[in-house]
Amino acid sequence: MYNVKTMQQAKDAGQKIVMLTVYDFLSAQMAQAGGINYLLVGDSLGMVCLGYESTVSVTMADMLHHLKAVKRGTKDGFIVADMPFMSYYSSKTALSNAALLMSEGGAQAVKLEGGSIFAPTVRDLVNNGVPVMGHLGLTPQSVNVLGGYKTQATDTKSALRLMQDAITLQEAGAFALVLEMIPAELAELVSKKLRIPTIGIGAGPHCDGQVQVFGDLAGLFTAFQPLHTHRYASAFTDIKTGIEKYVSEVQNHLFPALSNYQTLNPQVLVEINDASF
Ligand code: KIV
Repeated sequence: MYNVKTMQQAKDAGQKIVMLTVYDFLSAQMAQAGGINYLLVGDSLGMVCLGYESTVSVTMADMLHHLKAVKRGTKDGFIVADMPFMSYYSSKTALSNAALLMSEGGAQAVKLEGGSIFAPTVRDLVNNGVPVMGHLGLTPQSVNVLGGYKTQATDTKSALRLMQDAITLQEAGAFALVLEMIPAELAELVSKKLRIPTIGIGAGPHCDGQVQVFGDLAGLFTAFQPLHTHRYASAFTDIKTGIEKYVSEVQNHLFPALSNYQTLNPQVLVEINDASF
């Protein structure tokens, strides 16, 4: 059984933590079959599954729907669920939405985006039994404030602010931090400074673990390819090729083949044909 403790033990033992976003029953099963024990039901599902323009449109209902499917496809993996945009603007709202994600959706922890300003919320959640993963650097729910999906904390002032945010979130009780799109040297400094694990995406090789988006890794999401992703498979192309073959075989009377269906006992066929109907 994987949990916050096993994640901390991995950091303490110097073992890299591998996390993957998953959004449904099948992706959860594939991730675990491939050896992933830490699953993130990320709000990136809005863009990669639902066709939204950004994660800002993702609702609690969207999250719960996908989270429940992931839960049904998960054996002993550790499921972290993203708290969607505006679902944690106050401690009270955060508590009731986290309760839904955990008790109804089956998440074992939640993730929220933002720095020191959310420390009181993180503390309230943790004190009420909700493990919290922080998320610093590029925080996609703030894309409209940030003005795009760019590398963050590249100057001294913002790098120092990020370091302070990381320390504050740890002190508030966060069990881990996602560091998204920050310079590798800064991610290394944060990872060394913190007791809790850092999970990087676009933050270089020195984080305690890495997280990737399922569609990027599988080669399912091909609209664009961010620098920090790697396509380990070509699922979109493979599936498209399969579909083209299916279309062609149906149109050319090759599918279904004899092996794809059952036939009647010839005597039964004779009797049916003889019957008047
Ligand atoms: O929603 C998501 O997929 C995420 C990861 C990029 C960390 O937050």
